[in-house]
Amino acid sequence: IHQTSSRKLDHIRICSQDEVEQGDPGFQGVSLIHNALPECDMGKIDTGVRFLGHLFGSPLFIAAMTGGHPETTVINEQLARAAERFNLGMGVGSQRAALENPDLEGTFGVVREMAPSAFLCANIGVVQLRDHGIEWADRAVEMIRGDALAVHLNFLQEAIQPEGDHDARGCMAALASLCEEASYPVIVKETGSGIAGETARRIAGAGAAAIDTGGRGGTSWAAIEAIRADESSRDQDRHLVSLGEEFLSWGIPTVTSLCEVVPAGLPVIATGGVRTGIDMAKAVALGADLAGMALPLLNPALKGEESLSNTIERLLHQLKVTMFLTGSPDIAALKRTRVIISGTNGALGVH
Ligand code: FNR
Repeated sequence: IHQTSSRKLDHIRICSQDEVEQGDPGFQGVSLIHNALPECDMGKIDTGVRFLGHLFGSPLFIAAMTGGHPETTVINEQLARAAERFNLGMGVGSQRAALENPDLEGTFGVVREMAPSAFLCANIGVVQLRDHGIEWADRAVEMIRGDALAVHLNFLQEAIQPEGDHDARGCMAALASLCEEASYPVIVKETGSGIAGETARRIAGAGAAAIDTGGRGGTSWAAIEAIRADESSRDQDRHLVSLGEEFLSWGIPTVTSLCEVVPAGLPVIATGGVRTGIDMAKAVALGADLAGMALPLLNPALKGEESLSNTIERLLHQLKVTMFLTGSPDIAALKRTRVIISGTNGALGVH
């Protein structure tokens, strides 16, 4: 119990201090086309977007990060206040620690107190879902009075963590039965290794409400776990440093994953290495409904309300300028805008 909670703090500390990003999400290989006669008013651009029946102020989604240790409460508090102020969707981090130890529920529950009307997304791992069933899923959603549940897939991290779950059997069936029984929408998300087309089709077939690409090119769990193992004094952790390092380049880049996942027909959140409002616009033009960011919001949230607000305002301004220059007065128009994909991030193999 204690281990799950203190691991959460390790992750926050490492992500706020160390270099944990790896690879190229692919946005540089995507071009939006400049519209020299945009015929719209930049001051009147509407970034509002509908997703799972909720109207959001913009496609920026605050991706799942934290909770589960008393010192993370303040981070969730700041993120939730920003979600409320800007009418953004927000995910909390894995709620496993609080499901194991109810004393920690407040580290997550704080988000609903701070964001009474925002779209909030609960979070559990697919392994916890398989092992504890819908009971844990329901408790996770109730804990934050969530609007949806994200089930995260993180087998790269599990494989590299000394305390990880290495048996993935039965997860697909657990997902399908959750989607059938749950009274809330289920979003299936990766956490940095991306989702391929065939996996997206299985997820859609299981009855999920949406998919989050969680692609490669942003925060890398191989990097984070390699740093954690490197800090450990236990001999058995030493070989995990090199295991993490060898898998630094594993995974499907976000843009590639997005192109793979969109044809499955579900609403999509593009996450993983989204770093600017221009990236957000590219994701939407490629078919995403929302664009998620985790790491870029962590240090601003740690600094406080003003820093986080400024960061989000800058991102939304970049998005608006991009929409203006493509002649897109609203998100529906941005979705229809033509994109050119080039560079080295081709689609996954065809056979
Ligand atoms: C995460 N992420 C994550 N995802 C999840 O489903 N459950 C979790 O508990 C966490 N925890 C977590 C902690 C921290 C510190 C970070 C930075 C990230 C993954 C996150 O939601 C996202 O998918 C990836 O980080 C990719 O996005 P970025 O960081 O490249 O914008």
